[in-house]
Parts: sequence; C-alpha cells; structure tokens
Amino acid sequence: MYFKITVLPGDGIGPEVCREAVRILEAVGNFHKVDFRFEEKPIGATAIRTTGSPLPDSTLETCQKSDAVFLGAVGSPDYDHLVPAKRPEGGLLKLRSGLGGFANLRPAASFPPIYDCSPLKDSVLHGVDILFIRELLGGLYFGTPRGYSEDRNSASNTMRYSVEEIERVARVAFEQAQTRRKKVTSVDKANVLETSQLWRKVVTEVSKDYPDVQLEHLLVDACAMHLITTPSRFDVVVTENLFGDILTDEAAVLTGSLGMLASATIGGQVDLYEPVHGSAPDIAGKGIANPIGAISTAAMLLRHSARMENEADDLDAAIRQVLDEGYRTADLAREGRGKIVGTKEMGSLIEKAFVARLDRRFAYHAV
Ligand code: IPM
Ligand code: MN
Repeated sequence: MYFKITVLPGDGIGPEVCREAVRILEAVGNFHKVDFRFEEKPIGATAIRTTGSPLPDSTLETCQKSDAVFLGAVGSPDYDHLVPAKRPEGGLLKLRSGLGGFANLRPAASFPPIYDCSPLKDSVLHGVDILFIRELLGGLYFGTPRGYSEDRNSASNTMRYSVEEIERVARVAFEQAQTRRKKVTSVDKANVLETSQLWRKVVTEVSKDYPDVQLEHLLVDACAMHLITTPSRFDVVVTENLFGDILTDEAAVLTGSLGMLASATIGGQVDLYEPVHGSAPDIAGKGIANPIGAISTAAMLLRHSARMENEADDLDAAIRQVLDEGYRTADLAREGRGKIVGTKEMGSLIEKAFVARLDRRFAYHAV
C-alpha cells in the first residue's frame, strides 16, 4: 500500500515552499515506513509556458488518481492581460472544480511569541483560534452567465447558490464546531442579496440537527470589523466563496503574516491542500519566503487525508516550538528581535523539532 501525493509547485514562491513541505512529509514517511509517493505536475504560469494551458489534462488526470494533492501557489503578472479562464488562477479554479472539494478549511490562530508581528494589540490577539470554512465551488467564482458584453462596455458575474450547495458546507461547519468550542458564525449579506437570504435560511435549518452547537448570523461588513476588534469571539466561521476569500486574508493579520496560513479542501473526490498565500512574485527565488503556511498545510494533510492525527499534532507543535525559540523568516522579522532565517533553514529547523517529537512519542510507546 502506498499513499500518492501529487505535488503542484506552481509559480513564484510555490516551488520553494512546497519543497519544505515535501521534506517534512518525507520525514514522516521515513520514520513510520509509510510509502508516500510524490509526483510533480505543472500548473499555473509554469504550465502556460510549457503547454499553453494553466491546467494541462495530464495534471488534472494525475491529481484525480491520487490520494491527496498539494499545491504551492499560482499567479504571475506576465498573464494579467488574459481573460480569467486562461490566466494561471483559471487553472486553479478548474482544478478545484475537477477535484470536487467544496469545503475549504482555513484555520487562523494567534500565537503569543509572534504577537508583535501583528499591528493589533496583544489584548485583541489573545485567545484567537478561528476555523474559517469557505464554500469553494459556488458563488461569483463559478456562477454563469458571466463575461463581457459584445461592445465590452459592460461585464457581469453571477452569484448563485443552491440549497444543496449551502447545506453540504453548513454540515461541515457544524461537524467541525462539535470538535471545537461549539459555535458557528454564518456570514452573509442577507440585508441585500437573495443568495444570502437563502444561505441564512438553509444554515438555520441545518443547525436544528446540531442542537449542541450555537449558531449566530453576521453580515459580512460587520464580520470584517469584528474580526479586527474582537476576533476571540469567533470559533467556526462559515461563508460563501468570495466573502471567505476576503475575510481569510484579513484574518492573516491576526496570525502575524499571510505566510502562516494553511488550508485543506475536503468533501470531493480528492482532497486538495494549499497554503493561503499567493505566488508573491516580488520575493520569488530569493530563498526568503515563509514556508510555515505550506508546512502547516502538510500537517492538515496528515490529519485529514493520511489519518495521522498524532503526527499532525507533533508537526503543529514543532512549528510553535521553532517560533518560540525565536526563529523568524523575513515576513515575521521585527527590528532587533529574533533570529532571521531563510526558507530552507526554517524548513530544516521545523523538521528537526518534528522528528525529535516523533522519536519521543515512539520511545514512550515502546516502554
Ligand atoms: C486563494 C486565492 C485564489 C482564490 C486565487 C489565486 C484564484 O486568492 O486561494 O485565496 O481567489 O481563491
Ligand atoms: Mn485569496
């Protein structure tokens, strides 16, 4: 038996951070003699350059035949002039719909040793631990009709949601809340949009099956404010595609850097793992990108797809340990504080701390 992971390094800093995440997964594989098999495929601008398409058929087919897909990042200013479907991002959206995962889990937690990386006060950051669940296959990203008018003087997109699409993502939110602090905040714009009125109605219906979970509804504009003023009030936040895209970048401010955020997309044929940050072309190739978002994403893969809960806990703890010891990538650097390291060094520090934890756990069980 083996566990096949298709790796899509993609563009910009994608390949650099992927390398560190793969190194961590290889370390687990070697330790437990789990046969993780990796296959790399092109996506995004990298794929456009070599094949003309942002998602070549062979990439999608390989992904569909694997146990999990790990993506670095897509996006390049070289293709800003293309229509959305032909851009690097178009390849990612096609991949998401081809794999079928509709629930994008994006955890955002604050961590005391790096409170100073956030412009917010410590008292605001204290106790922040949010799990965003972003609906990933509906809304404006995929609604039709869409496009330009013939004279190109106007353009439109369609926000559409069905009862079924809302219900299935709501269930994921309530189930996740049951394993946490038992609170779901559903975010919409029900004072203006019909899709949001439907969203609110369906989420309320679904909540009746989870009487142990508290449900609150919040308008997206108010949510954007509460995220910065009182973020510790949130546990699980469930919302539609575009609202989720925007709110999770905002939530990065709570964690200190966009480079910290991980994500897992579940519910489809094959689960998809990708850090939340983009391709960051301005720092690509310099060896300074923060690999923690990608490495935390590897922890999510261990937890959700490989069913290695203990190892996922150990990896999360190893990341915290290395930050606690004062190591920082450039995005986390604050004048005169911490030991600044590059992408590779951060990866190897976390790997070392992680393997030591695996060793300890193994020794404990052997006694
Ligand atoms: C994200 C990204 C993507 C999105 C882009 C790259 C298409 O911003 O994963 O948050 O908008 O979903
Ligand atoms: Mn985004």
